[in-house]
Amino acid sequence: MAASLPTAGSGLGLPDAPALAGLRVVPGYLDREAQERLLAAVREVIAQAPLYTPRMPRSGQPMSVRMTNCGALGWMTDEQGYRYQPTHPVTGAPWPPIPGILMEAWAELAGYPRPPQACLVNFYGPGARMGLHQDRDEEDFDAPVVSLSLGDTCLFRIGRTTRQGPTRSFRLASGDAVVLGGAARLAFHGVDRVISGTSLLLAEGGRINLTLRRVTRAD
Ligand code: SIN
Ligand code: FE2
Repeated sequence: MAASLPTAGSGLGLPDAPALAGLRVVPGYLDREAQERLLAAVREVIAQAPLYTPRMPRSGQPMSVRMTNCGALGWMTDEQGYRYQPTHPVTGAPWPPIPGILMEAWAELAGYPRPPQACLVNFYGPGARMGLHQDRDEEDFDAPVVSLSLGDTCLFRIGRTTRQGPTRSFRLASGDAVVLGGAARLAFHGVDRVISGTSLLLAEGGRINLTLRRVTRAD
């Protein structure tokens, strides 16, 4: 796994992009073999906790991304709003545990003494995207959000902690890691689009993103 953790802004092809402290991008964090191991683990999670279509608060409008979770808590959204809960909204079963390979990635990347409590699994099929948002449903913003990507490359966008601030975009490929810590922990971010055919990892195409989070202050 990658030994050094470059700071975003360097090597992203955007020399004029303002630096955002606490944003770390680690291209190629997972090699192909590790990507395949992680994908196998994610497929086991999905077998126990099927992907479902989340809905936006109030409107109930379906999102284009399909989701599931692993961990003690899982993030979800429906008409009642954004929240964490210990069970799958469709099956009612507890979320499966976070696979070891993800716990290892957290230990290596998060720089935080306690383990992740939630891992959101996002699946982007053709045309799926995610609008700019902040991850702010957690009590604990001291812990970073650690993100790993598998499958097709996406165009990831990140801004500042206000919706109006400047944004920049860069590609995230299969195996890349992103850490949103420090000032970047509450940065607006999203996925403009997924570029079909850029990876052969997922036989069905598309992109999987995994985000590891601390949720509560207490264990
Ligand atoms: C997210 O913000 O939940 C997902 C980000 C990504 O897909 O890279
Ligand atoms: Fe997010």
